[in-house]
Amino acid sequence: MQQANNKISHFISIQDVDESTLISLIDLASDIKLNNPKHSLNGKSLALLFEKPSLRTRIAFELGIAQMSGISVNFDEKELQMGKREALRDISKVLSRYVDAIAARVQDHNTLMELKKYSTIPIINALSDIEHPCQALADLMTIKEKKGSLQGLNLTFIGDGNNVASSLALACALVGINFTISSPKGYELPDPIIKDANRISSYNDWSLNLIQDPSEAVEAADIVYTDVWTSMGQESETKARTTAFKNYTVTNSLLSKAKKNAIFLHDLPAHRGEEIEDGVIESPQSAVFDQAENRLHTQKALLLMILSDEQAKGS
Ligand code: CP
Ligand code: NVA
Repeated sequence: MQQANNKISHFISIQDVDESTLISLIDLASDIKLNNPKHSLNGKSLALLFEKPSLRTRIAFELGIAQMSGISVNFDEKELQMGKREALRDISKVLSRYVDAIAARVQDHNTLMELKKYSTIPIINALSDIEHPCQALADLMTIKEKKGSLQGLNLTFIGDGNNVASSLALACALVGINFTISSPKGYELPDPIIKDANRISSYNDWSLNLIQDPSEAVEAADIVYTDVWTSMGQESETKARTTAFKNYTVTNSLLSKAKKNAIFLHDLPAHRGEEIEDGVIESPQSAVFDQAENRLHTQKALLLMILSDEQAKGS
């Protein structure tokens, strides 16, 4: 049985792990998926603080920790009112006395930084406006599963330079997957993410490309990825975004311009008829539901690396 050998203190950004930890995490997740080993967290507990809706992230944490003999406790936005009913620093200090880790989905990334500042336990980013690192773990796992390796592949992201794109760009930088993003003007990958991605890649030939034309951007792609045009919390911008992104739909025709054996990924939820043409998710090239399943395996691996005593006990 593969052990959770690398300890992770917090997982707020992909930058909280190095390349070898990231690879170990994906390998551990694959071992969990393929061999169903008996890992136990011996009653360790996780608080789930969700300010935004979720299907995959929440079930992967809840079910994942339960399957490893741990406990989760959920709070939604109504109950929490983070920073309104109670100061963040107090929530963080109190939860540190009760549970072993916190996974939070927040409107504002600073909430995670504030929780981290006052906690004595690990903080996990379950999605913020800036990053979605848990998603990137499942993305890499799915790519490795389908392509057999990571380094040297070409991934093209079509659409918004958002939280999902940012974590993915950073993860690709770490493992050496060339990252191309095609976004309309004004919706590009943020500059700090571009800088960080270039800084953290240890592969000299790694490249990050911004190509506005989607057809040109997918030309050498082994993986084509897209996400919604309007993320949670941006609903007031829907109209402007729908106009700006109108030429950025991933259609079967666009997909056919990528490499012949290219796969298609989407973090879900998807808006069929907007960022993807109806039918693309169901096409033979789509690995979207494997990707969704892999959220469970990768989040279990993450919890093990954060909470497990297995290595300390030498088991
Ligand atoms: N992809 C993803 O994070 O899904 P949920 O928003 O349903 O958790
Ligand atoms: N970019 C999307 C991802 C949802 C999982 C959002 O933030 O709403």
